Amino acid sequence: METNLSQIIHELYNLEVQPQVSRPAPEFGDYATNIALQLAKQVGKNPREIAEEIAAKLKESGAYSDVTIAGPGFINVRISASALVKSLNDEWSDTYGNSTEGAGKTVVVEYPSPNMAKPYSVGHLRPGNQGWAARQLMEATGWKVITDNHLGDYGAPLGIWITGFKKFSNDAALEEGGVYELGRVYIETKRALKEEAERGEATLADEVQDWLLKYEAGDKEAVAYSERFNTISLDHIHTVMNRLKISTDYELGEAFFAPKGKDAVKKLLNEGVAVQNGDGSIIVPLDEFGFDVPLLVQKSNGAALYATTDLATILYREETIKPDKVIYSVGAEQQFYFSQLFAMAKKLGITTDLYHLWFGVIDQLNEDGTREKMSSRKGVVLMEELLDQAEAKARETVGDRDISEDDIKKIALGAIKFTDFISDRRTNILFDWKTIFALTGMSGPYVQYAAVRVNKILDEYGRGDAFVDTYDYVAEKDVLAKLLEYPSVVNAAARDIEPHKVANYIYELAREMNRYYEKTPIATGEVSDDERRARLGVLTKVSHVFTHALALLGIEVPTKM
Ligand code: ARG
Repeated sequence: METNLSQIIHELYNLEVQPQVSRPAPEFGDYATNIALQLAKQVGKNPREIAEEIAAKLKESGAYSDVTIAGPGFINVRISASALVKSLNDEWSDTYGNSTEGAGKTVVVEYPSPNMAKPYSVGHLRPGNQGWAARQLMEATGWKVITDNHLGDYGAPLGIWITGFKKFSNDAALEEGGVYELGRVYIETKRALKEEAERGEATLADEVQDWLLKYEAGDKEAVAYSERFNTISLDHIHTVMNRLKISTDYELGEAFFAPKGKDAVKKLLNEGVAVQNGDGSIIVPLDEFGFDVPLLVQKSNGAALYATTDLATILYREETIKPDKVIYSVGAEQQFYFSQLFAMAKKLGITTDLYHLWFGVIDQLNEDGTREKMSSRKGVVLMEELLDQAEAKARETVGDRDISEDDIKKIALGAIKFTDFISDRRTNILFDWKTIFALTGMSGPYVQYAAVRVNKILDEYGRGDAFVDTYDYVAEKDVLAKLLEYPSVVNAAARDIEPHKVANYIYELAREMNRYYEKTPIATGEVSDDERRARLGVLTKVSHVFTHALALLGIEVPTKM
């Protein structure tokens, strides 16, 4: 009902709302909503008129046996169990939830694209979570999906690493600290570079440049350092991605595309898209797209920039993959950059749908109750530390019950990820361990537990999803109605990559199940054979949908919790 309403309201008035649906006394109907009254001001019509327009659409949908309007604009609906059973029976399959909306089309999804110079931090948690959800949603809606980890592995970091390593570190320390030592060296060297610049000196800066030039020229020592440092950093990135249970098909980073930048820029010049300045730098004017600043694609010294590698990436994909769509899972702070990049692509005549999947930052709650961007005393919060902490919290949550390490990890990840998906991705999220691991309300543990509970009953009494002819399914009405909504939720979530729609749905399904258990015995007590079979059949479907929907968010169902 919630999903139907929000779609209808979108169609009729082009508004994005999440309508509340209540359960009135049985004589009025199964569900009621006062959404027409709430919308009156925004829509500029009287509530009764709005209610009529919405009611007409609800009737059209065929999902309800009775739609009536009461008072100034309350909408009451009744659902019929037999109609629900029929519809669900028609639509059900082993892949229920999947659709073919994107059939025949290819999408490239880019995530989590961390930078190699520093250890994996929470800064790349959302790019991974949201990118993975995008991948799952596109795949579920029939797209051919190709995923790529666009590593930040190009540019000054190598020079800084080598210079810093010689000055501030040594083999033993690197052996011991791995990527964390590299991160420390990087930060310390950056600081030294800044101090030196303030003194008007450039000894270290020159050394950094020297190493970069040596590397470009194939100098043995520089290449050996590069391989050594990159291996350490990449192994670390993979360890973290494995823990986050995300992976990609390709890992073509900036360094792979940088050498292709020269040709890409030449193409821009040839096609009159870019112009060269007097100092040799090359820019793409974007006035006709409403930007008063051009995009810089080559520095005066000929060096490639972030935009150059991205341009080369776009061209490479046009040649090798010819995707219909490319999704970049990158935070809101790069919105301006991507809008310029996409404008440049348009100017070049590229028609592929380039889509910046952006999201807010992660905030933390300070002790005095204020919010700020998540950080630790040492600066950024390290991803591995956050995961360790989450696992410790998950262990606390399950107490002394006998839960496997594997399940603990699923609970820890589920809690973190679900938090990421509760609200519209464009908002900042608040990271607060208490709510993340809350056992009630919108939390990972709450929805995972709902799924585990269903599975536990099924494991004990048996699965089987056929409908039973002799049973009326009246007690299951609300659950069936919720199940019937699912495919449209997936499609709606995939359209603008809005995984919160799936998260909200999962939460609603979990609540619906809790209401259901309260009044209906499933397999024990005064239950006939037909009733038991029918109810276990519904639960089997619920189990499928829980697993399918959670997987869209990259969350697994624990075997026990
Ligand atoms: N490595 C970049 C960062 O962490 C993100 C890369 C995003 N992808 C891209 N094609 N520019 O900020």
